[in-house]
Amino acid sequence: MNDTILIIEDEVLLGTELQRYYARLGFEALWAADCGQARAILYNPDLRPALILSDLSLPDGSGLDLLEETRGSLTDCEWVFLTGYGDVPDSVRALRLGAFDFLIKPCVQEQLDMVVRSALRSAQAQRRILTDSVNAGKRYAPETFLGNSAVTRQTAEMLRQFSQVPYSALILTGETGTGKGLAARILHYNSERAKEPLIELNCAALPKDLLESELFGHEAGAFTGAKARHRGLIEQAHRGTLFLDEIGEMPLDLQVKLLKVLEDRKLRRLGAEKEINVDIRIIAATNRNLQDEVKNGSFRSDLYYRLSVFELRLPSLRERIGDLDDLVPALIAEFNLQAGKKVSQVSARAWQLLKCYRWPGNVRELRNVLERSVILSSSQQLPEQWLPNEGLNGGTAAADFQSSVAAALDAASGEARLDLQFPTDGSMGLEDMESEIVRKMLEICHGNVMEAARILKTTREKIRYRIEKYNLR
Ligand SMILES: Nc1ncnc2c1ncn2[C@@H]1O[C@H](COP(=O)(O)OP(=O)(O)OP(=O)(O)O)[C@@H](O)[C@H]1O
Ligand SMILES: [Mg+2]
Repeated sequence: MNDTILIIEDEVLLGTELQRYYARLGFEALWAADCGQARAILYNPDLRPALILSDLSLPDGSGLDLLEETRGSLTDCEWVFLTGYGDVPDSVRALRLGAFDFLIKPCVQEQLDMVVRSALRSAQAQRRILTDSVNAGKRYAPETFLGNSAVTRQTAEMLRQFSQVPYSALILTGETGTGKGLAARILHYNSERAKEPLIELNCAALPKDLLESELFGHEAGAFTGAKARHRGLIEQAHRGTLFLDEIGEMPLDLQVKLLKVLEDRKLRRLGAEKEINVDIRIIAATNRNLQDEVKNGSFRSDLYYRLSVFELRLPSLRERIGDLDDLVPALIAEFNLQAGKKVSQVSARAWQLLKCYRWPGNVRELRNVLERSVILSSSQQLPEQWLPNEGLNGGTAAADFQSSVAAALDAASGEARLDLQFPTDGSMGLEDMESEIVRKMLEICHGNVMEAARILKTTREKIRYRIEKYNLR
């Protein structure tokens, strides 16, 4: 933690005395006798004082002007003014400029100590928020949404675009484990709200009453057990983002209240008289089909339309099985690092196992499978025995693979046969039919070009050519 204090004071005796005093208390204490010396310290990135204890009038300028000059670029320090001649307009200007406090000399040491301690705490809290959001910004860059398939590249591009526009609400849909939580973080930490909080609530995790007081907060005595005032999550997300996971689980009467907050941009804590202004962005996630829920009456249509200003569907891993080429090495590297392993090879059979599986739990399931495999590995080779082998039971790799494709065909069409129907009225040409055959075959093979080529008794190149030709990505 940076505990550097800069004392700006032109009276040599007082300046050196304060410097010695704070050095004795264990701080890195620097002393500047005028604005020029202070600037040299303030703009030195290696020094970065957390607290500036400044006189008002200095030989070459005013401490207040110095604060005004630097406050745009130095946002993680606090200023306390200590002056013999301060008047009311000065103190008002100081506070308006964001100074932490304004003290008149002579001032009691204990009082100064107390102000210094609180100002340092405040500067440190600001530093934490800044570092957290900078780190999170890096950790959740849009590129962290891995995958090179066309759908994934498109999804990452949408995430990048949404991060740059000021929308009020957005819905993320997709099966479990498709990355809705990751997408919400990318959206928040790359937006202009990144420095404000991202507050998360899983609507399925709490019973209704708790959900309400968690979201809206309450005053002391609002209900039995409400001992102290509680700021709700909506309030905490002020200027930031509220991520409501599993929004489909929110009870209907809370949906009404949430809609009201969104429309009025105001909120009333439970048991409160006054309303509070709130400026929030909502990202809601669900693995249900909200339009169906609206039709059957379990989700309010007005809230749905209010939230679905933008809607982004995250594709299942099945639809973008080619992404395994990027996901698998990246995840293996991550788990190598965590577990101190050195897995670097994935056998052809392991790839087949990974690419033939349907991944109902999507990327989350893939992570679990790879974590287990890396942890249990005993060489540089990714072990195959922990990979999902639906329908595989011994035999040669090729035979295993064929039987798993047969299983996939079974699952898709009930039997090992492509079920296609083409009109004979001339409305569909040979090329369209060919395109449809290749598309359907790729779907059944989960995008595995090699397998589709094998079944169609052709070459990978020819399948690839048709993928381009018919735009089947
Ligand atoms: N495209 C991706 N690239 C890298 N990691 C991903 C990707 N998609 C998902 N993940 C990772 O997979 C895991 C599961 O994703 P996440 O928790 O975001 O899914 P979810 O859609 O919120 O699931 P649920 O509906 O079950 O809450 C996370 O660790 C996430 O970081
Ligand atoms: Mg989630």
